[in-house]
Amino acid sequence: MNEIKLFSPATVANVSCGFDVLGFCLDTIGDEMIIRKTDKKGIHITKVAGFDLPLQTELNVAGVSAIAIYDAAQPDFGFEIEIYKNIKPGSGVGSSSASASGSVFGINELLGRPYSNLELVKFAMKGEALASQSEHADNIAPGIYGGFTLVKSISPLEILELPCPDDLYAVILHPQIEIKTADARALLPKEIPLQDAITQWSNVGSLVHALHTNDYQLLSRSLNDVVIEPHRCALIPGFNDVKNTAIGNGALGCGISGSGPSIFSICKGESTAKSVAATIEILYSKTEIPFEIYISKINTQGIKIL
Ligand code: HSE
Repeated sequence: MNEIKLFSPATVANVSCGFDVLGFCLDTIGDEMIIRKTDKKGIHITKVAGFDLPLQTELNVAGVSAIAIYDAAQPDFGFEIEIYKNIKPGSGVGSSSASASGSVFGINELLGRPYSNLELVKFAMKGEALASQSEHADNIAPGIYGGFTLVKSISPLEILELPCPDDLYAVILHPQIEIKTADARALLPKEIPLQDAITQWSNVGSLVHALHTNDYQLLSRSLNDVVIEPHRCALIPGFNDVKNTAIGNGALGCGISGSGPSIFSICKGESTAKSVAATIEILYSKTEIPFEIYISKINTQGIKIL
């Protein structure tokens, strides 16, 4: 195989209570990439369509993660990468992570799959670090593994794949404003009250248990963030109204997707997801902010070869 075309999906990090550790993978939003072997050695980004991102390999997250796997494998040929971006950078659904993960996944396939998913996450984290100036894998892991993942540790890297109940859908509202992950991290407190920590780790534990037991009601009671959301929600106009509307119309939970501005709702069943999306659309149309809404089943496969 000399060329591969792939779909690298958007992802939702944090999932309310699991800041920097929990994430899940979406199905209907994502970037496409074409990666091909070349005689010329090295990594060359030959095209970026959709958004204005650098072609220079060292300045492009897909390029930086590709260099990481390339340097490890040391093949006697090179790769060129075309990136067709659909996920807007700074949207909160893992745009940089999709680029970083897609390039390493595709190169690994073209090399004959020498590396495990865990190693691919490590390579992709190099690209993600360029974009967000921090090492976190909560978008990369669900993109590469699919479904729900928990980053148990980044040093040493340990990823847990969590089960995904069959009937889970996400509704994503993407207000067209940009929030830089680095900025959204800078406003977080360095210390949190013990009582908030107790509530938060109780919710993470019960969310994981809910996924293992298909307990949608427990999942709903676990989708609660008392640590990060109170600090970040002011960055997203109308956040509390969207959340109340989503939950009032049957969503199991609603929170900030990654560092925002996207807002995710998790629903049991497609019809509930459609009705939640419709009511959010009516509500957000009253703001001056352009927006997009997506409905997506949780993607249990992750990156797909097209
Ligand atoms: N866990 C990260 C954060 C995800 O919330 O800052 C960024 O997409």
